[in-house]
Amino acid sequence: MGRLIVCDHPLIQHKMTFIRDKNTNTKDFRELVDEVATLMAYEITRDVPLVSVNVETPVAVAECKVVSGRMVGLIPILRAGLGMVEGMLKLIPSAKVGHIGLARNPETLRPVEYYINLPTDATERLLIVIDPMLATGGSANAAIESLKNRGCKQIKLMCLIAAPEGVEAVQKAHPDIDIYLAALDSRLDEHGYIIPGLGDAGDRLFGTM
Ligand code: PRP
Ligand code: URA
Repeated sequence: MGRLIVCDHPLIQHKMTFIRDKNTNTKDFRELVDEVATLMAYEITRDVPLVSVNVETPVAVAECKVVSGRMVGLIPILRAGLGMVEGMLKLIPSAKVGHIGLARNPETLRPVEYYINLPTDATERLLIVIDPMLATGGSANAAIESLKNRGCKQIKLMCLIAAPEGVEAVQKAHPDIDIYLAALDSRLDEHGYIIPGLGDAGDRLFGTM
């Protein structure tokens, strides 16, 4: 079974409080999501491979490590996943970015794929699927399935907030996937919203409430 990692660093918990607050305006919401994504990027890259290099310090040669290049791909689920891309690129600037467009049908809650564009070498990269919300898990599962169908094998999922139902759905459909969260909430409501959650992530990021 893939790991479930809740990144509960005090700075993340602090910022999540303001992200959840309905009185946080669009500009601050966007900045906070960006900052939490950066902090989570630190955690999700904890086990990326390193290679040795020698550098000359002013007094000697030191055998050091660098992250082996060109190995990460970020796959935001449109729209709301876009809000976490820049924050991650601050720590992983060499990552390439692919996009998967999925929208939940508000009645059935089923995701509909309307767009996909991946880096040409996606199958060789560790792909991090990014979406602020893991609610029923339908969108994340569809995105992961789409990547697997195209031959991608190394995949992680990173979300801000999940409902237990969404975690369970991903673990059942894709038991090989590690899931990284900033918070695990209580439940879903009858409209598929995470409780207490933060509301509609896409609307709050892009001011379309
Ligand atoms: C939201 C969210 C996830 C999805 C989660 O997107 O960003 O993609 O719902 O729900 P699920 O786990 O039940 O699938 P939405 O469909 O509202 O699209 P948007 O990002 O364009 O607002
Ligand atoms: N999508 C959101 O944006 N918020 C939720 O609570 C659930 C799905």
